[in-house]
Amino acid sequence: MQRLCVIAILAACLDAVTAQYNFKWAPATINAPAVVGFHVPGVPAWTQWFSTNNKDAGESPPGNIQKCTSGGDNVWGASFDDGPTPYTPRLLEYFAAKKLKTTFWVVGYNVQANPDILRATYDAGHEIGIHTWSHTHLTQLSDDEIIAELVYGARAVFEVIGKYPKYFRPPYGDVDGRVRSLAALVGLRSVIWSRDSQDWVYYANATAINLIVPNNFKSWIDAGSKMDISLEHDFDPSTVSVGIKAMDMLLDAGYTLKPFGECIGETALYGNSILPKFFASGLFESKLAPVQTATEVHGIPIAVITSTYRSEAAVKTSTKTSGVHAAASFSTGFLAVFLALL
Ligand SMILES: *[C@@H]1O[C@H](CO)[C@@H](O)[C@H](O)[C@H]1NC(C)=O
Ligand SMILES: [Zn+2]
Repeated sequence: MQRLCVIAILAACLDAVTAQYNFKWAPATINAPAVVGFHVPGVPAWTQWFSTNNKDAGESPPGNIQKCTSGGDNVWGASFDDGPTPYTPRLLEYFAAKKLKTTFWVVGYNVQANPDILRATYDAGHEIGIHTWSHTHLTQLSDDEIIAELVYGARAVFEVIGKYPKYFRPPYGDVDGRVRSLAALVGLRSVIWSRDSQDWVYYANATAINLIVPNNFKSWIDAGSKMDISLEHDFDPSTVSVGIKAMDMLLDAGYTLKPFGECIGETALYGNSILPKFFASGLFESKLAPVQTATEVHGIPIAVITSTYRSEAAVKTSTKTSGVHAAASFSTGFLAVFLALL
């Protein structure tokens, strides 16, 4: 009897650990990066909700942030986009060894694929920003689709770190007034960069990337750059290793590496005030895609999200398990095992 009890509780513990993050709501099971032009379907009711509940924010949104504004001339805002990936931990090791923090702009589908890596990144003290769900060109999307890309991207980050960022980075820097306006409705401000390392151009050619990226940083250093924000990536081993080389160059040249929020003097990086209200409204779950039939983008079909997925998502409305909650139920489970053994 007692042994049965222990087995039952252990099974519950295991369940808590394996179901650490709930991505049942995630919009598609396709490999988004392999499908050029993929984006999530728009949800008109979400756009309507933000337009009604955060109307003023969308009216005259602030421009893109592109340089540091705080911390002195020698401050440098490095950033790494498109993770989390299996290559991110190498950067984490580097920054930990240097006792420095940086910023990661993360893509929703990669957060779903590598939640533990995002959790480790956040736990190490790095800053996390939203880089949409599908990494697509936002200016080419409808209003509803832009809102959905930001909402799903934010939901992915929240699932893992339990916070809603106030900043997003538009993929490819592809942003205009309409995108900024819609993002402002979602409580998000656009952050681009002043220095493009071009690692994304040359990542497939080891000779080229190791020649051109360090050369770019050298020319910026030689030109006496001040308070720049640089664009780099953690999507490939080559971009990570050349990124480390670039950070060393900046440090050798006397720059102070700061994460983005610090270098603009932001003290409430995750103080998004509208997203918690939106998710508390229940509209996210009740209107999960698809609310439109699958369409084609540039001749490539968008994956159809099945009705099975929809009903699962609806059931999951009140059972979100964050990393923190899972850890709590895990230790409760341990306590229960301990008591059962007594
Ligand atoms: C790789 O880059 C080097 C240096 O720019 C260039 O000479 C070479 O042709 C490139 N290789 C390929 C396969 O493109
Ligand atoms: Zn990107």
